[in-house]
Amino acid sequence: MVRDGAEVLSNVIASQIGTHARYGGVVPELASREHLRNIVPVVRAALEQAGCGFSELDAIAVTEGPGLAGALLVGVMYAKGLAFALKKPLIAVNHLEGHIHAVLLEARKQQEDLPQPAMALVVSGGHTHLYLAEEAGGVWRYKNVGRTVDDAAGEAFDKVAKLLGLGYPGGPWIDGLAPHGNPRAVAFGPVNVKQKPYRAAQEQSPRFLFSFSGMKTAVLRYVQTHALAESIEKRRRALAGLPNAKLEDALALCDAETLNLIASFQRGVIDDLARKTFAAAEQFHSASIVASGGVAANRELRTRFLAEGKKRKLPVAFPSLALSTDNAAMIAAAAWPKFVAGDRAGELLTAEPSLALGSAS
Ligand code: KG4
Ligand code: ZN
Repeated sequence: MVRDGAEVLSNVIASQIGTHARYGGVVPELASREHLRNIVPVVRAALEQAGCGFSELDAIAVTEGPGLAGALLVGVMYAKGLAFALKKPLIAVNHLEGHIHAVLLEARKQQEDLPQPAMALVVSGGHTHLYLAEEAGGVWRYKNVGRTVDDAAGEAFDKVAKLLGLGYPGGPWIDGLAPHGNPRAVAFGPVNVKQKPYRAAQEQSPRFLFSFSGMKTAVLRYVQTHALAESIEKRRRALAGLPNAKLEDALALCDAETLNLIASFQRGVIDDLARKTFAAAEQFHSASIVASGGVAANRELRTRFLAEGKKRKLPVAFPSLALSTDNAAMIAAAAWPKFVAGDRAGELLTAEPSLALGSAS
């Protein structure tokens, strides 16, 4: 629950990590079942923690998409029912807009306006997208100027962690282990994705393309050519026997070569994210940079973006760690300007698994 788009009264998360961990990734059927099971208790807990009843709500916000159809449908149908029964306005929010508003929520709370336009990098398990974001007359507008052509950065973190016998989700493990290795030990060259030759359109409005599947394959090849399979299997078995494994446990199970590989992989991903985000900011004359989504919790990403921002005199903002990964407060925050502007969901609102944000460049 969020007051005036700025103050988090409660932010309850029903984590499904335990459900999906043994599969090394999200299983769609299990995700919708868990949503169905959790939605009523989570809403109750959110009201209880905020010390408020249903009647005191001004509006109900719900994620319309993008995401897994089954999980989105549970939320949309429940929210529609609730709004109808309570006679409250219903506001539909794009999940990616929510990630951007995780930053704006905290800026609003500190009464610090983010210089605009902002170049927003949304970098998570499902997305690696760049948006030029700007507010006019209380309405936020987004222009998509970059995206991944294959895996999302978070997906690459998760797949590489799985490949190396580490836990799920992989990002936090790699983040924790990388400082113990040498990031220059294995070369992951810059990733240049060839743009389609719509030259005139490109020159007017260039797009920044990411690609992470090649880096994941390079890690796999390194594992094969350096005969790491046996030690990976040993690590996988040992960690599987430790349901509450800590970073020290994983660290004790990694040799120097593996730590170097992890550090180099992370450096490769972060270099690429930083290079293209700052190039896009320059190209589109952005006045600030926003990085959000699960991967924006990464410490090397934060250090790197802040240093680069300082060098270029460009303010860089992240959400607090708690609001970097998926949460409900960011959805309520994104709904606030829509609420003020009278933007309501129609009766035909349904789940939109491939919903895009804003206009394409
Ligand atoms: O935003 P999020 O919670 O969910 C999606 O919308 O996908 O992001 C989850 C992703 C996972 O791929 C996870 O491995 C990654 O964010 N992640 C991280 C870190 N924490 C979470 N990646 C790198 N470093 C981290 N510290
Ligand atoms: Zn997300």
